[in-house]
Amino acid sequence: MTNDSQNNLLSYPTPAIGLWRITDWKYSTTEQVKWTEAVLDMGARVIDLADIYGNYGAEKCFGTALAAAPALRNLFFLITKCDMKLTSDKKPEHRIKHYDTSKAHLVAAAEQSLRNLNTDRIDLLLIHRPDPLMNADEIADAFTTLKNAGKVQHFGVSNFTTSQYDLLASRLPFPLVTNQVEFSVLHTQPISDGTIDQCQRLRISPMAWSPLGGGRLFKSQDEQAIRVRTALEAVGKELGGLSVDQVAMAWIAQHPSRVVPITGSGKLENIRLAIEACKVKLSRQQWFTVLAASQGHEVP
Ligand SMILES: NC(=O)c1ccc[n+]([C@@H]2O[C@H](COP(=O)([O-])OP(=O)(O)OC[C@H]3O[C@@H](n4cnc5c(N)ncnc54)[C@H](OP(=O)(O)O)[C@@H]3O)[C@@H](O)[C@H]2O)c1
Repeated sequence: MTNDSQNNLLSYPTPAIGLWRITDWKYSTTEQVKWTEAVLDMGARVIDLADIYGNYGAEKCFGTALAAAPALRNLFFLITKCDMKLTSDKKPEHRIKHYDTSKAHLVAAAEQSLRNLNTDRIDLLLIHRPDPLMNADEIADAFTTLKNAGKVQHFGVSNFTTSQYDLLASRLPFPLVTNQVEFSVLHTQPISDGTIDQCQRLRISPMAWSPLGGGRLFKSQDEQAIRVRTALEAVGKELGGLSVDQVAMAWIAQHPSRVVPITGSGKLENIRLAIEACKVKLSRQQWFTVLAASQGHEVP
């Protein structure tokens, strides 16, 4: 099965730029505009956000930069997410962290994201976490309303099991375009739990969050991280001096399902390395060396 919408992610063969930590970077608006222009100059075209990032402040932070430089908006594919409700000083009405996939909340959340981002459309809206009270018909109604109003172009999910994905997809009049899941050299489950098989079957690109384990790859002293670092260093040497983070990115990007890793770095040099890394090909034996280090044993 092929369709136009799923090609939107496939047509950007570079990592997505994750802005989860944007409020920590403390860039001024001018610096944020320059940073975004530099990222675009390097070839990145996909920005990943969520309504809750930065204690509900990340979208506004990026939206301020977009308001200062509106021409930037059409130069990239803008992803945001909804359905999580955090306890926060900004949301005193939330007594407990929970999810909300009611039509009223999804539509209101998307409209709030549009205001935060100073834009008239979201290119891709994801359900951030599967809601145990999910009513697939109601989500389909919300998505259709947002699409028909031109407020959201495409829809996807994040952290969904394959059966949750199938359930939602079965009620939608258009295909979902991604499942954004944790996937890295430290977290290989999506290649064994059916998530990535499903994406390949549907010819959609999965997206990989925390591709460097959220920084754990560099710092953690647990046995798995030490084993994986050692393997990445060895493979990096064989490949002519690639760094640990580059081999880790290349390992993800090489998967035939055309996984889109989302780099979470705020440093332009690290983003440049990630973009370059996605062009590198590991040999099959190098790829399995990293897998074995992650899993603690060779494949059977
Ligand atoms: N859908 C979901 O549920 C979900 C969950 C989590 C994240 N996400 C998305 O995925 C994105 C990436 O997640 P992540 O931030 O955990 O990704 P990551 O790329 O695995 O980790 C980034 C962190 O590692 C640090 N780091 C240290 N050395 C680095 C190096 N050489 N290269 C790159 N980073 C280095 C970065 O610090 P510096 O800034 O100092 O480089 C940053 O703090 C998020 O921004 C968000 O968009 C989605």
